[in-house]
Amino acid sequence: MRGGGAVAAVFVQFLLWALTLPSCFGGNVTYDHRGLVIAGKRRVLVSGSIHYMRSTPQMWPDLIQKSKDGGLDVIQTFVFWNLHEPVRGQYDFEGRKDLVKFVKLAGEAGLFVHLRIGPYACAEWNYGGFPLWLHFIPGIVFRTDNEPFKAEMRQFTAKIVNMMKQENLYASQGGPIILSQIENEYGNVDSAYGESAKTYISWAAAMATSLDTGVPWVMCQQSDAPNPIINTCNGFYCDQFTPNSNNKPKMWTENWSGWFSSFGDPVPYRPAEDIAFSTARFYQLGGMFLNYYMYHGGTNFGRTSGGPFITTSYDYDAPIDEYGLLRQPKWGHLKDVHKAIKLCEAALVATDPETTSLGSDLEATVYKTESGLCAAFLANVGSESEATVNFNGNSYHLPAWSVSILPDCNTVVLNTAKINSLATISEFVRQPSIDDTTATDAFLSGWSWIHEPIGISSDSAFTKLGLLEQINTTADQSDYLWYSLSIETKGDEPFMHDGSQTVLHVDSLGHALYVFCNDELAGSAKGRNSEPKVSMDVPISLIHGRNKIDLLSLTVGLQNYGAYFDKTGAGVTGPVQLKDSRNRSTVDLSSQQWTYQIGLRGEELSLSSGTSSLWVSQPTLPKDQQLVWYKTTFDAPTGNSPIALDFTGMGKGQAWINGQSIGRYWPKYTAPDSGCTDSCDYRGSFSPSKCMKNCGQPTQKFYHVPRSWLQASENVLVLFEEMGGDPEQISFATRETGSICSQISETHPMAVDMWTTDEETRKRARPTLSLNCPFPNQVISEIKFASFGTPQGTCGSLSHGRCNSEKALSIVQKTCIGSRSCRIGVSVDTFGDPCRGIIKSLAVEASCSF
Ligand code: GAL
Repeated sequence: MRGGGAVAAVFVQFLLWALTLPSCFGGNVTYDHRGLVIAGKRRVLVSGSIHYMRSTPQMWPDLIQKSKDGGLDVIQTFVFWNLHEPVRGQYDFEGRKDLVKFVKLAGEAGLFVHLRIGPYACAEWNYGGFPLWLHFIPGIVFRTDNEPFKAEMRQFTAKIVNMMKQENLYASQGGPIILSQIENEYGNVDSAYGESAKTYISWAAAMATSLDTGVPWVMCQQSDAPNPIINTCNGFYCDQFTPNSNNKPKMWTENWSGWFSSFGDPVPYRPAEDIAFSTARFYQLGGMFLNYYMYHGGTNFGRTSGGPFITTSYDYDAPIDEYGLLRQPKWGHLKDVHKAIKLCEAALVATDPETTSLGSDLEATVYKTESGLCAAFLANVGSESEATVNFNGNSYHLPAWSVSILPDCNTVVLNTAKINSLATISEFVRQPSIDDTTATDAFLSGWSWIHEPIGISSDSAFTKLGLLEQINTTADQSDYLWYSLSIETKGDEPFMHDGSQTVLHVDSLGHALYVFCNDELAGSAKGRNSEPKVSMDVPISLIHGRNKIDLLSLTVGLQNYGAYFDKTGAGVTGPVQLKDSRNRSTVDLSSQQWTYQIGLRGEELSLSSGTSSLWVSQPTLPKDQQLVWYKTTFDAPTGNSPIALDFTGMGKGQAWINGQSIGRYWPKYTAPDSGCTDSCDYRGSFSPSKCMKNCGQPTQKFYHVPRSWLQASENVLVLFEEMGGDPEQISFATRETGSICSQISETHPMAVDMWTTDEETRKRARPTLSLNCPFPNQVISEIKFASFGTPQGTCGSLSHGRCNSEKALSIVQKTCIGSRSCRIGVSVDTFGDPCRGIIKSLAVEASCSF
């Protein structure tokens, strides 16, 4: 490949490619050591995950456009089996499940698609994406060399492939799909499946290949992926990864843009400088395809979240936030990284990199061809000290944990630790509610309610000796399973003696539990993602005669990860015991005759639709009571901004809007008080526990209500509250972009789009601060802060440092107010020099209005 002729040929190919439109698909997709080859052209590709069912079809075009604007070439998605085949043999591809429409929209926007069929997905999705009916097939063992499993896996995979083929969606047919995936991260768990793991993976590879899509398949985290399947890397960093054959390109299927959150835990976030660093390092060391997992995380509507305990929000700290707004500066900084990488594409596709050491933790990588192409990356992988390096006779400053990109091997167009992009503050703005005095704006009218009976109320209840595992019993038709027992006491039993308090001991596999004794709540307990089990000792008051013990056991999303995760149980598997409080006598109730009810009466009656005739409305609204269904109607908040429900005041439950579930809510579950930081140091290896927020706060109090689910008025909101809450405290909020900020130092590289082919102009380019309003018809209306000197703080809390030019505010005001965007050179030529010999920055906070 290094021969001059071959290089020249590739260069000509590149020039031809540059002239074609990106939306021009077609042609088989192959690969070689240096990348995917699409219609004969080798490509450097940037991809991002958007799971179609985690948003709405109305949101898709905007999300896809924002992905394209962010510099993506590819949209990646899993296909979730349990969503499309909820009942064996019955398929559903409607609405949010309209996979074909989603793929077509991506294609129409000029983007490629990577379809990860799995069909195991993980993805913090209920049961990892497997339908529950699969579990009940006799003799089945998931994800191994097992005939019943393989037959079902083959059938679903073939179903999806055929659907795509029928619509001509593979690139080999002129469509956007350039890549597929079979299985998912099996290599992380395969040792638990012994010898059968090998034969299973060979079978999966052969099965996938036989489906003849005309595009390659990948297996992620599968170092033994058989030919022609490409093994790819998932993680926070994949620069050190190498595929298992020199004929395969270096691909990264999941660069985690943040991390998921679980009820009761703090919310992780990943600094923009660190993810930019990981991306640049990957392309520096020969990477050719990188996907952000997630680019837009979205929402786990309904009961789709996995776990257990995964929150309804799947925001993921992704470049596009849960509500579809740009998360800045992450989105913009990565966009700049992608532009910088694309400026190097011709060199990257043409040759292998050569890396040399420039000192401890300092590396230079050069892509250089005989035809004169040259691109370079300079990295400082040390996490503490900045450095100045000499490269090709020039000296370059490298902050710690950063990569500089030099598309001509000479001029730095980007450094991953120096953000040129805007930062914005996105915020929830409370909408007026019924409590507010401006009655005309009130949108929540009165509440009506229905009490859910405690214990058994359904004709379909049944009795069994002993305690049943929950998932095998409910088949996940509901979160809820009642375990009820009637016990007769004479008053002289040891556990009732001596005036000692009787204690009920319950051991459950999880995930949450309410204990009622004689129709009174005696106690409740909950697990967490890292420890779903629940064990409790609750004092109860038994009476002489018949007593009723009712345990309401709940799942909060089924396990989605790990070897044999599908066999993880839940529910009250015991023991359940009566004890006296001094622990002297114990009566085991585990093997008694228990009565079971799957689900709630309100579920049986479909109260979530709001149409039942049973709703009552009386002057005193029940508050802080367990097991209450609530209903109200409301007008949609005006405007176009995305909408959230603020569940402050409520405990735990599920909520429906016009019959559609917006998911589980649980604002009462707060994260521990410590372990969070507002200003996480991006330097050094990231892990989800390194940078966390929301300590001491609810893990999630805002819940996304898609605008397209609402009409102007008479919308119906139904809640099922389990633990007790005050629905009058619920309010609506809209998701808005507040201030925009930028902070650029004299040592920042030029803005990446100032790059020109003219070397002289390039050399003269100076750091520039640019402001841009988020919406086309907005203008900059106010400069809230401006300082040239040594300003401190971050967007929303900027302040002047010791050194500050007097002119800064008026110059910025004059240049920017009234325009949609503005640019200002960051230099003493513009502002004068308020402190000689010190590196100065320009920091601005502005607001935009319509
Ligand atoms: C990976 C998995 C994804 C997702 C991710 C964590 O292991 O492939 O599906 O679960 O972890 O968000």
